[in-house]
This record gives sequence, structure tokens and C-alpha cells, in this order.
Amino acid sequence: MTEALSVDAASEIQWSEDYFGGAWLVTRYADVERALRDSRLSVRRTGGWVPAGAKTDGSLKPFRSLVARALLFLDAPDHGRLRSLMMGAFQPHALQELGQRLREQVRVRLDGIDASAPFDFIARVAQPVPAQVVAEMLGLTLEAADSALRHATDIAAFVEHPCPDEALTQRAQRSALGMAQLWRGWLEEDPPPHDPNSLFGRLLAAHREGRIESREELLAQLVMLLFAGHETTRHLLGSALDALMADPLMRERAAADPAVMRRAVREVLRHASPVRYTARRVAVPFEWHGQQLRRGDAVLLMLAEANRDAVRFTAPDQLNLTRDEGVHLAFGVGPHVCIGAALTQLEVEIVLTEVLQRWPDLQRAAPGGEVPASEPIRSGLYQGWRSLWVHRG
Ligand code: HEM
Repeated sequence: MTEALSVDAASEIQWSEDYFGGAWLVTRYADVERALRDSRLSVRRTGGWVPAGAKTDGSLKPFRSLVARALLFLDAPDHGRLRSLMMGAFQPHALQELGQRLREQVRVRLDGIDASAPFDFIARVAQPVPAQVVAEMLGLTLEAADSALRHATDIAAFVEHPCPDEALTQRAQRSALGMAQLWRGWLEEDPPPHDPNSLFGRLLAAHREGRIESREELLAQLVMLLFAGHETTRHLLGSALDALMADPLMRERAAADPAVMRRAVREVLRHASPVRYTARRVAVPFEWHGQQLRRGDAVLLMLAEANRDAVRFTAPDQLNLTRDEGVHLAFGVGPHVCIGAALTQLEVEIVLTEVLQRWPDLQRAAPGGEVPASEPIRSGLYQGWRSLWVHRG
């Protein structure tokens, strides 16, 4: 696990040896936004992750080929083909239906918590709720969601590491293939009953009709969605609850008014961006801010730094839950902008509204006795809480 890098905000783009054996770091809002839309920068970057020693024996080939087929790592035209297949499941009417079910599920989950005693909000709520949502969208049972959560830990350790070694990569491979196994068994036999309009239903139909080219391509999307769907939302839930607990006035207003809650969550996304950076590789060489970017160079787009750019946001280091200064980059922008952004916001709004309406005096629990200290995530990639102990005041 690495500490977040401190980036010299004054320089425009800079070379760092700390990531992927060397990469350009881009930190300014305007530059990051531009780069995310620039087709000279490719998302095909899986090669750089696989340790050189493993390349020769081919032992990481299955992992590499799974990752390389996933939407997030594909350029046009494959990217557009797959993204349009999934988009329907993230449209407002689909989310509205999902939101109604989710509110009920969250209420049942909260009924099972005695908040007069300290509990870990991450373990009891922030981790299981997004996992359950995405598992259902992908046609999995709750038990399968639990098993996916265990696999996700190894994948996260790999993704979080700026220079993963072979052992870490092998573990991630085992877990990614383990996740794929959740579907593989019955994919070509009879799939369990499912809604044809769900994300899973849409993907299966596309596979049957040949718009998804192979079983491998289908599995790559399922694994990527399952991982992306819960790992990050959990971090946002922790940071947003923490921010609202610290501000009693805003907490009350946000719990009573969805528009206030939405704005507060948007500000937490800007101020504590759950995914700190994303990566590209130079496909067409070009000169930028006086630097020569060569074909194959890795380029890291520092979303969290860009969201604290003083040229773009007033007093950017201050968390201002009523801030109204337009778009942040926490979900990226351009062709690969997070497909789950609206879903995430809906999930977080529902969970936090239910929690704060039920327990308006919820606060951080001081460590002592049986209660350990809450633990922030210390990772270069993710930002949030590993554990967040809370109780009623
Ligand atoms: C706090 C929650 C989340 C954050 C901060 C987040 C962040 C991001 C970012 C920054 C990107 C763009 C990456 C790039 O351009 O390289 C992205 C893409 C993506 N996200 Fe999210 N995400 C979140 C939740 C979700 C959820 C809930 C899902 C699915 C259920 C999801 C699925 C995806 C997918 C499939 C992509 C790739 C889109 C594409 O390549 O076209 N994300 N996300």
C-alpha cells in the first residue's frame, strides 16, 4: 500500500518513476479534462500492468485477456458497441425502479443494526449495499455477491498498487477468474430467471444475438461491472457520511431535502474523489506543455488533484457542502465517463437519507474498549474509509 503522492501543483505535466515503471502525471483540471477527451491517448493499457518476468511463461495470459476485453480498456469502435449495449440499464426510468427496491432493502438492513452501540458503517452498510445492488443487476444471488466481495479484495489490492509484482498479479488473476466462474457454469445452459431489461438481461441477449462477440467478451464485462460497481461506491458512502456527521446543520437539511443531499454528495465527490487517478497510454506521439509524449508512454490523469485546482474551484481545499461550481472530474469525462455515475448518486442519496432520518444524531465513535479506531484508506488510488465506527450520540 502506498501513500498518496504529493504532486507539485505548480508544474504542468511531470514525469514520475513511481507509477507503472514511469508515467506522465497530469494534475490541472483543464489538462485532465482535455486529456480524457483526447483520442491520441488510448485506454488500452493492460500490458503495462503485467510484470515482465511473467510475460514469458504465459501464466498471466487468462487474466490479461479478460481485462483487455473489458469496456474500460477498449477504444473505439469496440468501446462504443459495448457501451451502447449497457446504457439502457442505467437510464433514469431503470434507476427509478431500482431505487424503490433499494430503499426497502436499506430499511431492512438498518432494522438489523442497533445504533446505540458503536458499529462499523463500512462493514455493515457501505460495503454490502453496493455489492447487493450490482450483484442483482448482474443476475447473481446474495451468496454469490458475498463470494464476489472476497474476490474483489485481491483485485483491489492489484489495481491499487502503482507497480504490482507478479505475486499480487497472480492473486488478482485467481480472483478475477473466480468471479468469472460465478457465471461461467450456466452461461451457455439455462440462465436463472432474469428481467430482460436488466443489465444482465441486456448483456445475455446481446451475446445470443452476436452483438457481444464471444463468451469471453461477455464474462469480461460482467467481472468488470461487478468490481467497478461496488469498490468505489463504498468509499464515497464513508466519506459522505463522515462529512455530513461533522456538520449538524447540513446533515439535517440534507436528510430532509434530496436536492441538498445531491449537492452535498457532489461536493464530497469533488473534495474526496474516491478514485484518485485513471490512466492512458500514448497512441499517437505529441508535444504537450513543452514535453515530448512518446508512443506507449503511460499518462496518469490525477482526478483528485484536478478537483482541487484553484484555477477551477474557489478555495478548493475547503469542503463546502453547498458549493455550486459545476462539474467535477470524479467520474471522469468524455467517452469513458463512468457509466454508473447516476446509479452511484442514487445509491448514496438513498442510503444516507435513510441513515440520517433514522439516526439524526449519528456521530463518530471514539476508540476504546472493544471499539477500534476508524481507519482511512491509505492508497494512492482510492480515497475513503476502510472502517468507520459510528453510534448514536
Ligand atoms: C463512487 C463511485 C464511482 C466512482 C468514483 C467511479 C469512477 C469512475 C471513473 C473515474 C471512470 C472513468 C475511468 C476512465 O476514464 O479511465 C469510471 C468508469 C466506469 N465505471 Fe465508475 N465509478 C463509480 C461507480 C461505478 C458503478 C456503481 C459502476 C457500475 C455499476 C461503475 C462502472 C463503471 C464502468 C463500466 C466504467 C467504464 C466506462 C467506459 O469505459 O465507458 N462505476 N468510473
